Amino acid sequence: MQHDNMEENQKQIAYWNGEVGKKWDEYHHEIDEMLGEFSQILLDEIGDCGGKSILDIGCGAGTISYLLAKNGANVFGADVSKTLLANAQSQQSNNSNPNFRLCDVTDYGFTPNEFDLAVSRFGVMFFDDSVKSFKNIRKSMKPNARLVFIAWQSPQENEWIMVTKNALHGIAEAISANNPDAPGAFAFNNPERVHAILTDAGFRNIEITGHERNLYYNKGKGLNAGVSLLAKIGPASRNLATLPLEQQKVGILRLTEACKNYLKNESLCFKGKIWLVCAEK
Ligand SMILES: C[S@@+](CC[C@H](N)C(=O)[O-])C[C@H]1O[C@@H](n2cnc3c(N)ncnc32)[C@H](O)[C@@H]1O
Repeated sequence: MQHDNMEENQKQIAYWNGEVGKKWDEYHHEIDEMLGEFSQILLDEIGDCGGKSILDIGCGAGTISYLLAKNGANVFGADVSKTLLANAQSQQSNNSNPNFRLCDVTDYGFTPNEFDLAVSRFGVMFFDDSVKSFKNIRKSMKPNARLVFIAWQSPQENEWIMVTKNALHGIAEAISANNPDAPGAFAFNNPERVHAILTDAGFRNIEITGHERNLYYNKGKGLNAGVSLLAKIGPASRNLATLPLEQQKVGILRLTEACKNYLKNESLCFKGKIWLVCAEK
């Protein structure tokens, strides 16, 4: 099917410059804590990056970009969200590393053969034309350079989604019934599809491995603080926001009840499953 990819990317650009971008901006420390165990998988795979030139795709508020720069890499953080890039830039100290750029990686005019490595923490699932985007990313990479990113497995494999969906069942639809491959957090749920996209974009030696880790919501702060964060970001927040106040209260009570089973050492904690994807130019 022929896509009007710019029109589709515009939707994602608006999405990441709207309410969702604001939430990722406001709660970026909490999100970093939540995703900590997943970030570590990415960082372990990247390994020693001293002196390397790295593209951070969909860098958001810049957490991974800064970690890599601290480890000696020269980082180019690319993102379409003005809100999140402003956050990233506000953490900048005295030099231009990381170098953050407001751009759409699908068609940005990268310098060809520049990067030793292209990486992403959950920033590559939002392209309407993924093959076109990865071709453009590949062009920016040096010969034999590596691509390393993490992406969510299906909603059904992710407790943080299913608990929310089940708790809100009947009052709100926590997961859209749309095409699961459509641009969005779960677009790369199918590893065969991811393999095909990267192959079509020209990558080789593609390896996709599954990993399960914990997501923490306000770690160590108890049930109510965990539920409060769960209700503020992600699918719960988007769905609760559409309800009248009374229904929102019912939703929060239901979420609280459901989350009691997921409290460990005062931390609301869910299992999450991701794909670690590695490939070479
Ligand atoms: C789930 S967030 C992840 C942000 C960041 N990597 C992190 O882990 O904190 C996805 C990011 O991808 C960015 N993004 C989506 N489509 C993009 C595109 N076509 N080009 C560049 N960035 C894009 C969004 O603006 C958003 O910041």
